[in-house]
Amino acid sequence: MSDLKRVLLLGTGPVAIQLAVNFKKQLNSYVGIAGRDSVRSESFFAAVKQSHYQVRAAVQNEKHERMQGECVIDNVFKGYGSIEGEWDTIIFSITTDAYIEVLKQLSDKLLNQVRCIVLISPTFGSNSLIKNYMSALHSNAEIISFSTYFGDTRWAGGVPANKVITTAVKKKIYLGSTRCPSGNVQRLSQMYEQLDVTVEVMKTPIEAETRNISLYVHPPLFMNEFSLNAVFGDTAVRKYVYKLFPEGPITPSLIRDMLAQWKEMMTILKKLNIESINLLQFMTDDNYPVRPESLSRQDIENFDRLEPIHQEYLLYVRYASLLIDPFSKPDADGKYFDFSAIPIKNIFVNREGDLDIPRMPKEDYYRVKMIQGIANHLDVPCPTMDRFVAIYEDKMTKAAQRHAGERLSKAFTVQRFEEELQMICSEGSELSRQTP
Ligand SMILES: NC(=O)c1ccc[n+]([C@@H]2O[C@H](COP(=O)([O-])OP(=O)(O)OC[C@H]3O[C@@H](n4cnc5c(N)ncnc54)[C@H](OP(=O)(O)O)[C@@H]3O)[C@@H](O)[C@H]2O)c1
Repeated sequence: MSDLKRVLLLGTGPVAIQLAVNFKKQLNSYVGIAGRDSVRSESFFAAVKQSHYQVRAAVQNEKHERMQGECVIDNVFKGYGSIEGEWDTIIFSITTDAYIEVLKQLSDKLLNQVRCIVLISPTFGSNSLIKNYMSALHSNAEIISFSTYFGDTRWAGGVPANKVITTAVKKKIYLGSTRCPSGNVQRLSQMYEQLDVTVEVMKTPIEAETRNISLYVHPPLFMNEFSLNAVFGDTAVRKYVYKLFPEGPITPSLIRDMLAQWKEMMTILKKLNIESINLLQFMTDDNYPVRPESLSRQDIENFDRLEPIHQEYLLYVRYASLLIDPFSKPDADGKYFDFSAIPIKNIFVNREGDLDIPRMPKEDYYRVKMIQGIANHLDVPCPTMDRFVAIYEDKMTKAAQRHAGERLSKAFTVQRFEEELQMICSEGSELSRQTP
């Protein structure tokens, strides 16, 4: 029997709701959702209860209609400690930096029963982390990593409830499993293909985890003076993640850092015997294409063999070409869709009443710290990532001092993530094996 018959989604965010609809519609699974009991999740649990467990996913663009639908979920658990019943597969649709915190709240009984664990939006090292945790329980569960979540999904009404809207769907996703061949990988790939998402199965989970564009672009875009001033400062002027300076952080020196970080990452991959990534090709072919007039096929395909100055030039051209959506229809004034108008979010008071840091760059801090820790373990120098971390920690600490006396979330502390890194790099993990 397939392990995807009884599926428990962990997390009560928009991703969990979209996936609940997909698993019901495509695989007719028995679906449960479990989340922590928090101020933020309160309205989700209330809405689900009121709708008698009905959830709905809508789409913005009719070409994504296969994602839409509604279904009745079979079980809802408020608090990870309250999970009951038998589950074959658990699906992590929580933020990556919370994996261990949530795992520790799941009972050993549940974890020993589980035959498959799916990580929807992991980071570099997440699979090793979960594998290490599960082997300590003598579990033999298969652990599957996707490169990233397949869409862009948010709350339909702007606040947590039982309805979400998916506004974008990726064309291609990668996945890797601790088991090969795997019936679960086959079923999940079929499910994604039915949703019009191409899936490429990689040899290992860590390889899939490297095919996540956020790893390469978020740290340089966010962990710099300009963006962090916009995140932590109280400037009234809005700044944009993907715009050129002074509307956004993109300057020739930011592009130089992006390139340098990619090279540090490629040195890590080489040490682990993982195939390298052509950054420009990955950006254009797997993420957002640009018009051939802006970047030629030849430049894209030869990117990793070019001189650094040429590579920087092409990356800058890529960002400049995507300020507007080059495939949108211009209006009568010749204006194209303002594709880069994604504001940098400011620190905010969360629903618990604590001053908090937005997911970008909070989650990116965790991701870079993981890569930095792995690099240290492998003796790979990573001065660019060290600089990203240093500037982030400095800005965050100074913001904490400025707001002393207010209630601050845990995100306002410098963290070492020692436990996670020890587990990720432990003996026998994929990351402890390196080529000589
Ligand atoms: N939504 C998208 O379009 C999208 C796109 C790409 C990638 N992703 C990734 O997919 C994942 C899920 O996305 P989402 O939009 O559904 O996220 P979300 O709404 O921000 O949160 C998902 C869940 O994580 C839980 N969580 C966060 N920190 C936790 C902690 N320390 N302990 C326990 N639970 C914790 C949240 O609980 P509370 O509600 O109690 O905080 C919530 O149940 C994220 O990693 C995100 O980066 C999402």
